[in-house]
Amino acid sequence: MKRFPEGFVWGSATSSYQIEGAAHEDGRGESIWDRFAKTPGTIADNSNGNVACDHYHQFATNIDLMASLGMKAYRFSIAWPRILPTGRRAHVETRGLDFYDRLVDRLLEAKIIPFVTLYHWDLPQALEDAGGWPSRDTALAFVDFADVVSRRLGDRVKHWITHNEPWCISVLGHANGHHAPGRSSFPLALATAHHLNLSHGLAVPVLRQNAPGAEVGITLNLLHCDPASPSEADHLACRELDGTFNRWYLDPIFGRGYPEDIVRLHRQDGHLPPEGELPFVKPGDMDIAAREIDFLGVNYYSRAIVRSAKVPESDNLAPTVFAAEDATDMGWEIHPEGLLKILRRVHSEYSAPRIYVTENGAAFDTGPGADGRIRDTRRRDFLRGHLEACQTACDEGIPLRGYFLWSLLDNYEWAHGYAKRFGVVWVDYETQQRIPKESARWYREVIRANALPERDA
Ligand code: FCB
Repeated sequence: MKRFPEGFVWGSATSSYQIEGAAHEDGRGESIWDRFAKTPGTIADNSNGNVACDHYHQFATNIDLMASLGMKAYRFSIAWPRILPTGRRAHVETRGLDFYDRLVDRLLEAKIIPFVTLYHWDLPQALEDAGGWPSRDTALAFVDFADVVSRRLGDRVKHWITHNEPWCISVLGHANGHHAPGRSSFPLALATAHHLNLSHGLAVPVLRQNAPGAEVGITLNLLHCDPASPSEADHLACRELDGTFNRWYLDPIFGRGYPEDIVRLHRQDGHLPPEGELPFVKPGDMDIAAREIDFLGVNYYSRAIVRSAKVPESDNLAPTVFAAEDATDMGWEIHPEGLLKILRRVHSEYSAPRIYVTENGAAFDTGPGADGRIRDTRRRDFLRGHLEACQTACDEGIPLRGYFLWSLLDNYEWAHGYAKRFGVVWVDYETQQRIPKESARWYREVIRANALPERDA
């Protein structure tokens, strides 16, 4: 059995709005997801995060669950409106801070390392009303939030992630309106991306100051892109998608500014002015965005096979298609090789100093059988494939230090509501009963052995 490197960090990930519930307790302010979920037509099953997995009250049970599964680390996020109900530090809600304080202490007692994400999408509605992420002010408010939280937790939390998936926040939230706050303007999405980068860079020294010795990073969702055919048009389309999805977010963090080819593209399509400085970039910003990080968090779910819309079908050679059984309930192709390619790339092209896979997992709705057991073999196979990719990466000397599966529990999958189940633990939303699935037991064995078992049954 080939083992993972000594000290490899095995964990699971969640986020505040998706599991906490207690939306109106202990002074928590309104978030953009509370507001968005109330808007007709936004959420597939018309649900919201008011109760979710009731983690706010049941965090101890959830930590016991993690401990029983042998998990070494836990990545969770802080609900900004619980700490600063109006978004700004004029009013700090200590009951919110107390909650995360208890959570962290309990994790440490269970010998589980806390990895804190500061922003996983639940912006205080008051900040949205004042302009939200397209406004530069929000970047400054984020730094205050980072300061308040890290002053309180920085003595014990030594792993900090500023933002989760800036592409989703920018594009899903501001360009196509699929996520909160539901805006639909690409220029706003570009301003959002920049203010996220800026706020990230501004927060880095604050976190280092308040949490001595901590590792600080950011999590990007990266998508491996392959052209659908060898045609030049498909190659170009592939490069463009890679640019808008991956490079637009990677390049500024690693000191390269915004990619020229995509700037040109956005000037042509009218999302940026035809010439001159980018409207949202002020002198010095790009240096701030590129402040040194200790690690890059990579969230990986799938790849894209890219076909140019600009050429007729017949110009493409054999189009690459994938069978439906190779997709998860999200319709996302299962493609572990893409994870390996992404890890190689962030190592060789960007020299990421350290890497954690901060999310990877699959939605399958397999539920309890007649005997109560949940045989989610497809999730187990998914995890094995992606962990093999991680192992190869480690063997190749890529500084991959850990893996967080998404997710510990079935939870609120944003605009999909509760219908998409990503957990290795089943949640019965009526009773809040939790049932570890077969994949959870399998993961426990992986962690115990620090290795993948020989072929599974
Ligand atoms: C990621 C999000 C996470 C979860 C998974 C399935 O984009 O970070 O909250 O929704 O997708």
